[in-house]
Amino acid sequence: MIFIMAAGGGVGRGTVEALMRQGVPAPEIVGGARNPSNLEWMLAAGANARAADYNDTPGMVEAFRGIETLVLIPTMSAPKPRCVEHQNALNAAKAAGVRRVVFLSIQSGGKESRFLMTPFFVFAEDATQRSGMKWTIARMSLYADPLADWLPDLVRMGRLPYPVRNGCVAYVAKADVSNALAATAHRNDLDGEILDFTGPASLSMPEVAAEISTAAGVTIPFASITDEEYGDICRAEGCNEGMITGMTSLYHAVEAQEFARATTDVEELTGTKPESISEAILRLRRDR
Ligand SMILES: NC(=O)c1ccc[n+]([C@@H]2O[C@H](COP(=O)([O-])OP(=O)(O)OC[C@H]3O[C@@H](n4cnc5c(N)ncnc54)[C@H](OP(=O)(O)O)[C@@H]3O)[C@@H](O)[C@H]2O)c1
Repeated sequence: MIFIMAAGGGVGRGTVEALMRQGVPAPEIVGGARNPSNLEWMLAAGANARAADYNDTPGMVEAFRGIETLVLIPTMSAPKPRCVEHQNALNAAKAAGVRRVVFLSIQSGGKESRFLMTPFFVFAEDATQRSGMKWTIARMSLYADPLADWLPDLVRMGRLPYPVRNGCVAYVAKADVSNALAATAHRNDLDGEILDFTGPASLSMPEVAAEISTAAGVTIPFASITDEEYGDICRAEGCNEGMITGMTSLYHAVEAQEFARATTDVEELTGTKPESISEAILRLRRDR
């Protein structure tokens, strides 16, 4: 049995659906959510849904009974509480007799990272490796999907404004992360492996702007801006100061090439080339 934690989220649901498409029988798939009534679509498909809250260790022990492979998709909590959540899940998995944990991590510069969320991922990777269970770690690049949400604003502004000069990113579509995560979960030969889930190419910001322009049908050039200008843009879009600090740190990490590595792992796992930024944007906007 394969258990997907946070199965109601974007990547979680995509992973459950990919497991079914990849031939895992639905009764062998279990989704976990704080409120399992959000997972009725799984029951309708013949899969299982159980209550599982990262902050309820005894509840997770019950939820993980009979599970062979546990896929841990992290939440959006701040780094410190997220570390507690991850350790709770590992403790529960150990107690329930889970054999293997697949952890969805992120690329970045490890302990030297400039991204404020990275300390969680460093802790969680280390705790997973020391858990005593078999493990596989999948490090994703930055999602391409938010660029599709941002497209109307980018067209209005007439530029792609980031506080970046030379940084490159191998943006990856959430759908490709889900497909690769599902393949990782049902393969039995990936114990102790660290994978990189990335898009097809590492692109500079002017190249990212060219991809966005292709999807938009108009030219949207890249504009390298200061942290202050970026903060003003985020503020105008309703972001609070904590979010702005976090996002600015993310682009400092981009400038340090922390998300620049492109690999063929997604294609090797799924048999399909991952989407380019323009392909992902066009699909996401078509499917709305
Ligand atoms: N690579 C990137 O660029 C990038 C960007 C942003 C985030 N991320 C990371 O990727 C993860 C997955 O992305 P996503 O798009 O699937 O996120 P999402 O759609 O926001 O889903 C997050 C899920 O976490 C669940 N959750 C929250 N607190 C929980 C708890 N205490 N116990 C159990 N489940 C809980 C939520 O469940 P409920 O339905 O109960 O609310 C939700 O299903 C994010 O959570 C974040 O860690 C990556």
